Amino acid sequence: MLDWEQIFATRSSRMRASEIRELLKLLDQPDIISFAGGIPDPALFPDAAFKEAYSDIFSSAQVGSALQYSVSEGYKPLREWIARDVAKIGIDCTPDNVFITSGSQQALDYLGKLFLSPKDTALVTWPTYLGALSAFNAYEPNYDQLSLNGNRTPEAYRDTAAKTGGAVKFAYLSADFSNPTGETIDLAGREKLLALADELDIAILEDAAYQHLRYDGEAIPPIMALDIARKGGIENTRTIYSGSFSKTLAPGLRVGFVVAAMPVIRKLVLMKQAADLHSSTINQIAIEHVASRGFDAQVAKIKAVYSKRRDAMLAALDKYMPKNTTWTRPEGGMFVWVTLPEGMDGAELLAKSIATEKVAFVPGKAFYADGSNANTLRMSFSCADEAMIDEGIKRLGRLISNAIRAAA
Ligand SMILES: Cc1ncc(COP(=O)(O)O)c(C=O)c1O
Repeated sequence: MLDWEQIFATRSSRMRASEIRELLKLLDQPDIISFAGGIPDPALFPDAAFKEAYSDIFSSAQVGSALQYSVSEGYKPLREWIARDVAKIGIDCTPDNVFITSGSQQALDYLGKLFLSPKDTALVTWPTYLGALSAFNAYEPNYDQLSLNGNRTPEAYRDTAAKTGGAVKFAYLSADFSNPTGETIDLAGREKLLALADELDIAILEDAAYQHLRYDGEAIPPIMALDIARKGGIENTRTIYSGSFSKTLAPGLRVGFVVAAMPVIRKLVLMKQAADLHSSTINQIAIEHVASRGFDAQVAKIKAVYSKRRDAMLAALDKYMPKNTTWTRPEGGMFVWVTLPEGMDGAELLAKSIATEKVAFVPGKAFYADGSNANTLRMSFSCADEAMIDEGIKRLGRLISNAIRAAA
């Protein structure tokens, strides 16, 4: 039999199925309460609005162009809508600064491809979005921990990168309601990051997948908005902002976007021409149709539901979790991040939890580029109703209390 590994490129060695994915396959059982998937609740999709959008497209003269090849930059009216939407949060740009991707996941792949030569360093938060690590891994980088409390100098980052044979190229992070912790970076943290990036002369990849999902607290300007304000215009910025319609409208259409200075956009367009020519024409048109007619109402609707679920999860954690566990109190997004006592293992707990309590979550280790911090869990509240959340956390609290007692 052919030894495929011998002829695969070296980059493929870092593309591995995770053991967690294998465990999460068990979730198809109907009686499981799942806090595992970081996905929107399908009951909240604006399906009637999409039905109308596709019906309008098919009954108009536009149908020919909707089913045709289109430009790699993306559908112009959608790029215009996005430019107007991001302007509301201080990202002053033209539609030419907006580039449409097939989900914001594709933006992460392209940005990895654009910046990372093998052995270059990507700075990521500890923990970070697992899908970003998967996207960047194909370009064979090293990772270093991005710290925003000022305890590392630019030289320290530079030295570490040089020792591992490359240069620091970018810092990747979500400033609002990150996946997996749900946490937000405060204004001082955002400003420190801009100063660090200036010193290191690197790009900042700001992943804003959850930007619209703020339930309470004061909105903080995106890093890109702060960068534009400091530098006097988007063309002088080093931030590359990625956004998505997956969490607000629907992920199945695969429409995301990048906002950046023109030199970055021009390269991304060339990459798209080589990779898939353009994102689905008809889906971009449908997204623009739905967004321009009812984006704010849709966002208000899902925020009302998700914020109640967030409240239910925090209340249940307060009620049922044993003393030596801690968790985040997110102001938005879909996730709460739980830290168990040192020495406990989230993956072991998941196996037990599925078998005996029928509750699922994602063990936290996979979100660390160095595979550390096994004593953490990611809990999503987006797809369970309040009663299920209370019951699930009650069972999980019991399991964790027993495990702590057994270890004592
Ligand atoms: C932080 C973050 N970025 C990007 C993505 C990718 O989303 P999409 O490709 O659907 O836009 C996700 C999806 O879960 C995410 O959580």
